[in-house]
Amino acid sequence: MAPAPTSTSSAVTLHVNGEKYPLSVDHRTTLLDALRERLDLTGTKKGCDQGQCGACTVLIDGRRAVACLQLAVAAEGREITTVEGLAEGERLHPVQQAFLDLDGYQCGYCTPGQICSAVAVIEEHAAGWPSAVTGDVRPEAGVPPLTAEEIRERMSGNLCRCGAYVNIVEAVARAAGARAARTGGSAA
Ligand code: FES
Ligand code: FES
Repeated sequence: MAPAPTSTSSAVTLHVNGEKYPLSVDHRTTLLDALRERLDLTGTKKGCDQGQCGACTVLIDGRRAVACLQLAVAAEGREITTVEGLAEGERLHPVQQAFLDLDGYQCGYCTPGQICSAVAVIEEHAAGWPSAVTGDVRPEAGVPPLTAEEIRERMSGNLCRCGAYVNIVEAVARAAGARAARTGGSAA
């Protein structure tokens, strides 16, 4: 049974990968530590622990966020998706499959964050969100092509110490293309 709340802790229910997890957390506990240390969801990695590397990227209500800069208490009731929640049974998410097929990693430490980030990047792009390198940001210009330059910019919050960037860009482009083919949209 979870310990009773105190002046420095609260009872919260985290919604992670479609499951509800009631737990008591110290108010200073980050979402990253709650996922890894309390829920044993160790797919989400701790790199810098200060918001600079992207290794801890998860999706919160479909938007990417670095879990090391989120307090667990502030994530209560929000829909959190970690890398463990992307596959459907034995079927990998298309982004996971593309990383696998195209060797989008070496040591793999940054990979869960890269994959979660790429999932959101592809949706952001499909929704027409511009990036810092988008040439024409007028609404009437429509969805910008998802060029390699666009992918690099949109994924620039996720660092890879192995330097697997070339294959990561290819994997994101392939997954975006597959999404466009499924939905009739455009990726490039
Ligand atoms: S561990 Fe969160 S951004 Fe580096
Ligand atoms: S694959 Fe090793 S840090 Fe990215």
